[in-house]
Amino acid sequence: MTPQPPGRIKTAILISGRGSNMMALVEAARASDYPAEIALVLSNRPEAPGLAWARDQDIPTGIVDHRTFPDREAFEAALQGMLLEHQIACIALAGFMRVLTAPFVEQWAGRMINIHPSLLPDFKGLNTYERALAAGVARSGCTVHFVEPEMDSGPIIVQAPVAIERDDTPDGLAARILRQEHRIYPLALGWVTSGRIKLDNGVVTVRGTLGVDADGVDAGSDTVVPALSCNTRS
Ligand code: GRF
Repeated sequence: MTPQPPGRIKTAILISGRGSNMMALVEAARASDYPAEIALVLSNRPEAPGLAWARDQDIPTGIVDHRTFPDREAFEAALQGMLLEHQIACIALAGFMRVLTAPFVEQWAGRMINIHPSLLPDFKGLNTYERALAAGVARSGCTVHFVEPEMDSGPIIVQAPVAIERDDTPDGLAARILRQEHRIYPLALGWVTSGRIKLDNGVVTVRGTLGVDADGVDAGSDTVVPALSCNTRS
């Protein structure tokens, strides 16, 4: 791997499968001015296709197979051990399919982010595309948020809406949302690791400008909506 300039924030990406968001983050971090270094890709599934891709890129990888631990606490102790061993300062969950306990989440408060394929707080959990279509909403989308113990909750960093089309299908909607995920996740990780977005007492705080249009939410898929409920400091 190319040597990283000093001062980059060592980041771990946690995956369980395909890893397309992980790939988008890795690609973004190749830019010399990106504030995060992808220092570890960690999977709870040895067979995760994303893991093989990361290995091919010469990124340090790790496996903590949850099936080999007696309980969640032991699994998370191993996870934490590997994160500390690699001197990780920030975690990006990217399709990581394990529920994390409150004590684990709390020790990473403000330093762990997640991407979810809906406009949270709508459609937490699984099958978000099917549920959005069944509900007849005009748009769905994706959200990057700080992780809190309650699943798919936590202060929102950025969202991208995606319009629902006539005769839309779950697969079609998923593909259009995924394109937006690959766009907003690198933005969000960059903002968090550069310190431009911070979590202060449970509130997302923006320092300076984020360099994207924060005006108005519309149904166009090019809109990016940073930190919907935030305090702004210049
Ligand atoms: C993405 O849709 C993400 O929003 C959700 O899980 C999926 C992971 O896809 N959390 P990938 O592994 O990043 O391709």
